[in-house]
Amino acid sequence: MKERKGIILAGGSGTRLYPMTNVVSKQLLPVFDKPMIYYPLSTLMLAGIREVLVISTPEDLPRFEQLLGTGEQWGIEIQYQLQPSPDGIAQALIIGEKFLANSPSALILGDNIFHGSGFGEKLQEISHDLTRNLTLFACQVHDPERYGVAEIGRDGQLIGIEEKPKMPKSNYAVTGLYFYDEDAPKLAGELNPSDRGELEITGLNNMYLKRSQVHVERLDRGHVWFDTGTPESLSEASQYVQAVEHRQGMKIHCPEEIALRKGWVEPDQIIKQAKRLANSAYGRYLNKMAEDFKREID
Ligand code: G1P
Repeated sequence: MKERKGIILAGGSGTRLYPMTNVVSKQLLPVFDKPMIYYPLSTLMLAGIREVLVISTPEDLPRFEQLLGTGEQWGIEIQYQLQPSPDGIAQALIIGEKFLANSPSALILGDNIFHGSGFGEKLQEISHDLTRNLTLFACQVHDPERYGVAEIGRDGQLIGIEEKPKMPKSNYAVTGLYFYDEDAPKLAGELNPSDRGELEITGLNNMYLKRSQVHVERLDRGHVWFDTGTPESLSEASQYVQAVEHRQGMKIHCPEEIALRKGWVEPDQIIKQAKRLANSAYGRYLNKMAEDFKREID
């Protein structure tokens, strides 16, 4: 059976964050102590995904390559591909078709941050379950009109999804994390551009819905989801990460730690990487975490 592969779409021009994103890609901005893209990457790693494609704009892609490299340092494989112009999220699956090579996929938007107790285990279960065609995550928000909105029936079934509706039919936003079967690139290829000229991910998800092939996971209490597209949400996400990390003394979405706990790298590899970052709190954390891990397994 084919392993699920991951795609991170880190495109867009981040106009809602100007002037912060005048010369820097949104997904390279810091969310407290690490670049934004570390969070979606960590989410894929938590799901057990080891082959990842990063898609970005011609200007920004080299920066992501510089930052993330081959992925070898985290025991994963990262490839890169261009999205020449921002023609919609669903286009990521068409761009990634060759990379996916008929594998099921997990697509995550580069500005989406998920956190919650037991979320890693849940992701892993969903990722390994190849009987589901599409799994979406819906989360209650106070401003659903900013998102894809799920209309959910009395018995919890999904009735429809609307992209940024003026009159939302629920408070459930469809988050930017999607687990697709191997048909997604082909179906995305059948989409027509929307009124705003984009291949809408909501259009693709509604195609699955028509075939009664969508499973919705609700992210209820105990889970947080941030889309960091505005100054407020970016700052909120940073404050959340800072508060949790400070209180618990543990980092959220640290790829080195995930790789170590999954057994994809050796503690000594992390200790070596930590040396380069020794001046930062992040580097010191890596060193201590890997040293502690070594003692645990001795
Ligand atoms: C996109 C999707 C939307 C989804 C959101 C999640 O919107 O089109 O359906 O709810 O991501 O972050 P965008 O952030 O590109 O406006």
